[in-house]
Formats: sequence, C-alpha cells, structure tokens
Amino acid sequence: MQDFRELKKRGEKITALTAYDYPTARLLDESGIDIILVGDSLGMVVLGYEDTTQVTLDDMVHYTRAAARGVKRALLVGDLPIHSYDNPAQAVSSARALVEAGAKAVKLEGGASHVAQIEAIIAEGIPVMGHIGMLPQSVREEGGYKVKGRTQAEVDALLRDAAAVEKTGVFAVVLEIVAGETARRITEALAIPTIGIGSGSQCDGQILVTHDLIGLFPWFTPKFVSPEARVADDIRRATQAFIRRTKSAGI
Ligand code: KIV
Repeated sequence: MQDFRELKKRGEKITALTAYDYPTARLLDESGIDIILVGDSLGMVVLGYEDTTQVTLDDMVHYTRAAARGVKRALLVGDLPIHSYDNPAQAVSSARALVEAGAKAVKLEGGASHVAQIEAIIAEGIPVMGHIGMLPQSVREEGGYKVKGRTQAEVDALLRDAAAVEKTGVFAVVLEIVAGETARRITEALAIPTIGIGSGSQCDGQILVTHDLIGLFPWFTPKFVSPEARVADDIRRATQAFIRRTKSAGI
C-alpha cells in the first residue's frame, strides 16, 4: 500500500479499472493496470439492475472469486455492497468474506460518517480504499448522479470527509463526480492518493468502469468517459456474421 503513496510523491499517476470475471481481470492484469476493482457497478453492467442498490454480499463474493483467479500482479479490491457495512462488526465480517474470496483490500462508500467501520476493518489487517463524493449506493436518496463540490458547503464537507478517511489509514480514496477544482484541492490536501472518476485530471489516479472504457455497455455511457473501443459493435457484428453464415451454409 506504501507503493501508492510513493507513486503520489513521485507524481506518477495510478491506474484502476473494474473487472468482475476471470478473462477481464486477467486481461487488465496482463496489460499492467495498478488496481482492479470488483465494483458493485456490476449491479448495472453485469446483472442489469438500474443501480447498485440491489447488489448483495453474496453477489460480490461470487464475482470477486472469479476475478481473483485472473489476477497475479495488480491489487485486487473488493467493493462492499450496500447494507454490508451498516455497523463496524458487520463491516469486518463482510470485508473478511471478500478477502476470503481473493480480494487483497476492500472499498466502501462514505466519509466521516463511516470512520468507525473503516477503522474496524483496518484493525483486522485488511487494507481499505475510501470513496467520497457522489456515492452511487445513495443515488435514490440523492435523486441522481449529481456533481459534488460545487457549493462552499459541499467543498467544506468533502474536505472534512477526505481528512477523516485519511486519518483512519485508508491507502487511497476514490473521488466520484467531484468538481475538478475541488478534486484538485482534496488531492493537494492529502498524503494518500486520490483516484478520480469524473472528477477532472488533477487526481493522483483515475478509475473507470471497464464496460464504459471499452464500449461494452452501449445503452449508457457517462458524459466524462471517452471510450477507447466499441466492443458492443464487435459483438453485434460477430453475432450477425454467425447468424448469416449458419443460415446460408449451416456451419
Ligand atoms: O462500483 C464501482 O465500479 C465503483 C467505481 C466506479 C469507483 O465504485
């Protein structure tokens, strides 16, 4: 975990992507990614739910096991799903389940309000990645995926959350959909790396949902993503070619 602080000190950016299965995790690992997150975003891009609020700990354990088989080098982080860390004891037992499934660290959403849970997990020797800003598990209460850190009150709250999670000993913190200037200020204020998603270019690293990066979920792409591939188009093309070939020649 110290390596990530060193990368920050040296000004070297940290790269992180999501994976939920063996081949994707192995491909990302072989490509040199620093961190692989088995994110609860799998609720949308794998399970077809509207958001992450129906994902269970059993789901996360299942997909973490699959991804772990493909990872040799990157840090594999398991995401704690909603209501799996409502109190410190539950947080520890859920984090242990992800570690038993192959994760080397866990991530959970929340700032100052979740210090007790984070401290309890770290006290068990399990590294934690924080996650502040827009919190997808609260999307229903929030009424959508809105940018955080635009008003002074939000900036102050985010700086407080960032300082609170850093103090617990997390090795890095995700900043999700935070206004660019606020993300820059948080990044400057912390010794641990910030890993941004939709939070501008001034974070110490970047994370994306791999399906967004490779164009595998074409029905919705967040505004801040520039896809590097169009895998959905390739799948459609290959499927149609197979249909044509089978219907015409039978092979
Ligand atoms: O679930 C997820 O994939 C995440 C990242 C996008 C940060 O939390």
